[in-house]
Formats: sequence, C-alpha cells, structure tokens
Amino acid sequence: LDAALFRRRLMSWYRTHARELPWRHVSDPYRTWLSEVMLQQTRVAAVVEHYQSFLRRFPTILALALAPESEVLALWSGLGYYRRARMLHKAAQFLIEERGGILPGTAAELRTLPGIGEYTSAAIASIAFGESVAVVDGNVERVLLRLTGRPEQRDAAGRAFVQQQASALVPNRRIGEQTNAAGDHNQAMMELGATLCLPKAPLCLHCPVYALCKTRGEHLTPPRAAQLSR
Ligand code: ADE
Repeated sequence: LDAALFRRRLMSWYRTHARELPWRHVSDPYRTWLSEVMLQQTRVAAVVEHYQSFLRRFPTILALALAPESEVLALWSGLGYYRRARMLHKAAQFLIEERGGILPGTAAELRTLPGIGEYTSAAIASIAFGESVAVVDGNVERVLLRLTGRPEQRDAAGRAFVQQQASALVPNRRIGEQTNAAGDHNQAMMELGATLCLPKAPLCLHCPVYALCKTRGEHLTPPRAAQLSR
C-alpha cells in the first residue's frame, strides 16, 4: 500500500466532503476532549445537541471542576453511559487540583487521567495537539481490515495488526507545519468509516481510496449476485 497516495486521496476527499460538525474547527483541547468523550458509543446527532449546551454551562475545565456532580449528570441526560460524565468531572477536578487546570499534550500523559483510554488519548493528542499517533475506533478498524483484506481477528494479534496498519498511515509531524496533518488524517479515517465504509452496505463507488482497497466492492457482491442468478 502506497501510504503517501492513500493519505493524499483521503485528505482531498475529507476537505471537500467532511460533515460540518461543531467540534471540527476548535482550538481548545478541552472541547476536543469533551467531544471525543461524548462520541464514544453515541450517535453524532445526539452529541451535536448536547455538546453546545454542556459548553454553555461549563465553558472551561475550571467551570466543570467546580460544578456539583448532579448538575454535570443533568446536562449529560440523553447521552447515556453516565460513567463517562462522572470520569470527565473527576478528571477536571484532578487537573485543577494537581495540574494547574491544563490538559497534558501527549497521548501517554493523557492516558493517566480518569476516563481517558487508548482511543480518547490518541484522539485528543492528535486533534488538539498535533501529535503523530493513530486513532483506532471501530470505524477505523473496519476501514483498515477491508483496505488490507485481512479477516477480523478478535485477539491481541488482530488488534496489533490493526494498530500497526493505522500507525503506518498517520502522517509524521513536520517542523513549522501550519495545519494539523495527524489530527485531520485521524478524523478523516473515522469519517470514512462513519459515512462511506459502512458496516453493512459500504458505498465503495464513492470511496476516495477505492483503487487502493483489497476488498473494494466485495461487500456489495452477494445481494447483487443473488439477484442476477434469479
Ligand atoms: N467519531 C469520534 N470522533 C470523531 C471525529 N473526531 N471525527 C469523526 N468521527 C468521529
């Protein structure tokens, strides 16, 4: 796989076709953190509704840390998985008490905070701070397995393969870079999985990396073949 070609095609598609989402052009790492926590296991439409009102009430890490938990949970209502809100609140309090209210800028440090695991740390570090780390969520995993033609394997070796493919594709940070190549690349990978490389009926004919994909069009074949044989 030609990684440079893959990145170019993915990015030119992302620049023209990405959904306009309220957390897409923000420069405050707290906002990136909030959006990524809200997006875990939750539909984008539900997150769009809650993200803005949450930020109006808690515009900063300090405002969040000072709020009573009951109020944080009230603004979370409708998103579900309230544990995420409790961890977010706890992490905000920890940052205020122990870290001067500043979110750390690397995936390794972010991972030490409550509620921030492998996925969220990589998302914040790349999107908010430009670190060259790969983000792997369910969408990205599906894109990479289809792209490489590798069967799904739900064990450590399978996960390692996906992580390694993802890492090989993330752009390195360039000195003096004006745009955030790694953060945009990671968001483009997730966007591709969420809008075209769909679990059931992927829209292969619209895919910017169709020509590079080992399984292009395969997921479309069975229903069509069934129709033709009748
Ligand atoms: N899903 C979770 N985070 C996302 C992001 N930043 N862009 C696109 N899809 C996402």
